[in-house]
Amino acid sequence: MVGPPQCCSSVRLQSSVGRSIPPSETPCPGRVTDFRRRGARTDRRLTRATTPRYVSGNDVSSCETETLPVSVDSITFRSALAQWPSGVGVVTTVIDGQRHGMTASSFSSVSLNPPLVSVCLGVHLPSHALVERAGVFAISFLGKGQAGIGQRFAGMRPEVTDRFAGLDWAHAETGCPVLANATAWLDCRVVHAYPGGDHTIFVGEVLAASTPRVGAPLLFHSSAWSQLADPLPEKIDIAIGGRLSRLRANTLVTAGFTVRATPGPMIADAFRPGGEDATLAELDQLLRAGHTAVTLVEKADASPVQVRAVLADATVRARRASLRVRLRPQRGLGLVNAMVAMKSGVTGFDTTLSGRASALRTRDLVFLARQLGVSCPRLPATKPEE
Ligand SMILES: Cc1cc2nc3c(=O)[nH]c(=O)nc-3n(C[C@H](O)[C@H](O)[C@H](O)COP(=O)(O)O)c2cc1C
Repeated sequence: MVGPPQCCSSVRLQSSVGRSIPPSETPCPGRVTDFRRRGARTDRRLTRATTPRYVSGNDVSSCETETLPVSVDSITFRSALAQWPSGVGVVTTVIDGQRHGMTASSFSSVSLNPPLVSVCLGVHLPSHALVERAGVFAISFLGKGQAGIGQRFAGMRPEVTDRFAGLDWAHAETGCPVLANATAWLDCRVVHAYPGGDHTIFVGEVLAASTPRVGAPLLFHSSAWSQLADPLPEKIDIAIGGRLSRLRANTLVTAGFTVRATPGPMIADAFRPGGEDATLAELDQLLRAGHTAVTLVEKADASPVQVRAVLADATVRARRASLRVRLRPQRGLGLVNAMVAMKSGVTGFDTTLSGRASALRTRDLVFLARQLGVSCPRLPATKPEE
């Protein structure tokens, strides 16, 4: 049986910025190095687990690491790692006014207080040497539409000579460039660098953070760029608008539908191509004003791709507020949009019994939901008012 490494007695780490971190706040660290130390050697064989080669540069006690047999080969190891989905960030640094950046998915949050995060950078990479020398880095988290930026900063676009060109950058406190339209960025000062085989685990103290464009994240899984594949909701709420007799309205409410005489706050023409940012800004405004339910209205026919583009970000922003949609029938395409909306996390739908007035017909949406196994009320049998 493989036991845990014989490790670390009580150690007290000296932060490279002079702050001492008590052992209670520090996970079992293996050996730690001063982050400015250079000359890490690498060993790419996956045959033995060996003692870390970094030489301690700080006031830490040494740790014994057992030599354990390693039975995994490199291909199996990589295939297994590829099954781990991750977010994607661009790690940037600046030294002597020269900026540099690389794509990284090894980001992890480490501690809330103090605010610490980590990234693992390959020791052979130019980025590694630069972060090590600069002692600062920033990481910009990429959103769902930014796979091109991820590829560019991973060196996958050989035609790109300047990775930074043509993108909108801001500068954080440390001077590191950050993407102006990242979903979030963190500005960090390196406080530790731990050996991690052919990578170094840089731990950064977060000096500043921002969330410039909250939205759906870019993911990386199985060597492919991806997005969240959202499950269908368990149930949806269907509101019925338009003219209804009092008796009919009562029957529908009893059946479980919402009957809406006056619509709540709405964003008109929410799905127009090129209007995504305006829609999201209006949504933010309504949420800030304290509205707990907002309806996004499709004014002109929108494609499922366009509906998805807006809703993937809108549902992330709405969080606990209820996001509703009023979709056009579009000769059947409206039901495709309804499914896209459900898969994007929308659970509120505005309909009309007639299917006119530019809203989906209640009966069609009920049929779709039931076919998808999504729970919703059943229309009571009536004389054909619809
Ligand atoms: C999705 C993705 C994630 C990556 N994550 C890391 C990472 O966490 N650490 C790392 O060292 N390299 C990572 N890489 C590889 C680097 O981005 C790539 O080697 C880059 O060219 C390094 O830039 P540099 O050569 O200018 O230093 C990743 C690549 C991709 C496509």
